[in-house]
Amino acid sequence: MQWTLQVQSCESPFRSAYFKLCRLTERLNAKTLVNSPTYQPQENGYVNVVEKAEPISHSYMIVAGTRPEIIKMAPLIRAMRERSMPYVFVHCGQHYDYKMSQQFIEELELPPPNYGFKVKAFSPGSQTGRILTLIESVVKKTKPRTVLVEGDTNGVLASALAAVKLNVAVGHVEAGLRSFDLRMPEEHNRRLTDHISKYLFAPTETARKNLEKEAVWGSIYVTGNTVIDAVIQHMPLAKKRSSIAGKIRFKRFALATEHRAENVDDPTVLKELVEAFAEAPIPVVYPVHPRTRKRLSQQRMLKKLANSENVQLLPPLGYFDFLVLMRRCEMIITDSGGIQEEATAPSIRKPVLVTRLSTERPEAVEAGFARVVGIEKQRILAAMEKTLREKDELPRMSPYGDGTAARKIAQVLTHGVM
Ligand code: UD1
Ligand code: UDP
Repeated sequence: MQWTLQVQSCESPFRSAYFKLCRLTERLNAKTLVNSPTYQPQENGYVNVVEKAEPISHSYMIVAGTRPEIIKMAPLIRAMRERSMPYVFVHCGQHYDYKMSQQFIEELELPPPNYGFKVKAFSPGSQTGRILTLIESVVKKTKPRTVLVEGDTNGVLASALAAVKLNVAVGHVEAGLRSFDLRMPEEHNRRLTDHISKYLFAPTETARKNLEKEAVWGSIYVTGNTVIDAVIQHMPLAKKRSSIAGKIRFKRFALATEHRAENVDDPTVLKELVEAFAEAPIPVVYPVHPRTRKRLSQQRMLKKLANSENVQLLPPLGYFDFLVLMRRCEMIITDSGGIQEEATAPSIRKPVLVTRLSTERPEAVEAGFARVVGIEKQRILAAMEKTLREKDELPRMSPYGDGTAARKIAQVLTHGVM
């Protein structure tokens, strides 16, 4: 259906409201991310969802929208395929650059999404609202029995809300994580999603306890984290296919990533991080997230970093390249969530310096892999020196499971027990 707006009055408040509405509609325009047999573009460009698609009742709906969600949902998609569980795969389009989304779908050999969007939004509210509306229309069309979401992004909360408001069950993969830091959008998203989910797939006993303390109404299953499944499933291929090692300037290096809003959107923190990398006691290899590239460029810090002999900047990498670098580096410096978990996988086993004030992954800290080192240059440098000096023996087992999380989740969905 196409809506036509007519301005009936020439009074200035109405005219300005009208033009604002037009601009907003333009800005929220979602373009299709991938071609799929079920996608039919609409001429006005605003409606992405196929009108003629047959409803696929009793199927599951798997939603992913950002780089880590695609990686962590990949093992679940495989587990569901092995069991011939019917599913609809939706890319809700929170990430839209090739290097942040489609690259992973291709590399991990996932099926093309049945529905794919591209949501460019300028505020968290409009991003969440836009995804909610898009997912609502897909849920209405496909009538899934359960919508499965993973993690703590705005897309996760939006998709879970869209489902629950249509009385469709939500399964939350990676439920129960808590940083207890309400500055973080991820903390709002994960808390709210947990409280509207029917199935809560907690990666660890700590996550289960968090959920029990909050008296969530859904059922909790401790499964491990599917990211460990992902590392196990992809590392052998990564070793064969990645050629990144030959492109790294340094023999020994620390691998860095930074993208948390509370870090990179704050120029003071960003400066501390940049200076820490430039002065680090070991060279730093740094694939830059698009959010961070934008902020570095706005703050005129990108050139300084690019010109530093101690730092090698890279674009966001594919999963195989990133796995190889995690395996080869001396240590990881990051504010990422998923990387704190991956570093504990037996084929990686690396110390992680978490450049944040808190972590929702205390298991990695307790097991000796991760240390929350804060966001000040001097503290980060001191932690790097200590890590190079002390070389602690790290455990051989990951606190995030043994690579069977996805199978357990599929088992719960089909049989109600693990
Ligand atoms: C989001 C998640 C974060 C997750 C991260 C994974 C929220 C609140 N944040 O953060 O939890 O750890 O994804 O990487 O949901 N951009 C591009 N191209 C893209 C994607 C983003 O240029 O493909 C730029 C845009 O300027 C955009 C900005 O990055 O406005 C932020 O993107 P957004 O998805 O809102 O948040 P992330 O920082 O990616
Ligand atoms: N990753 C990647 N290429 C990169 C940086 C990260 O493939 O250049 C992978 C990484 O291995 C992990 C995931 O992306 O699986 C983490 O994503 P991110 O740090 O963006 O999000 P978070 O985990 O913090 O939500």
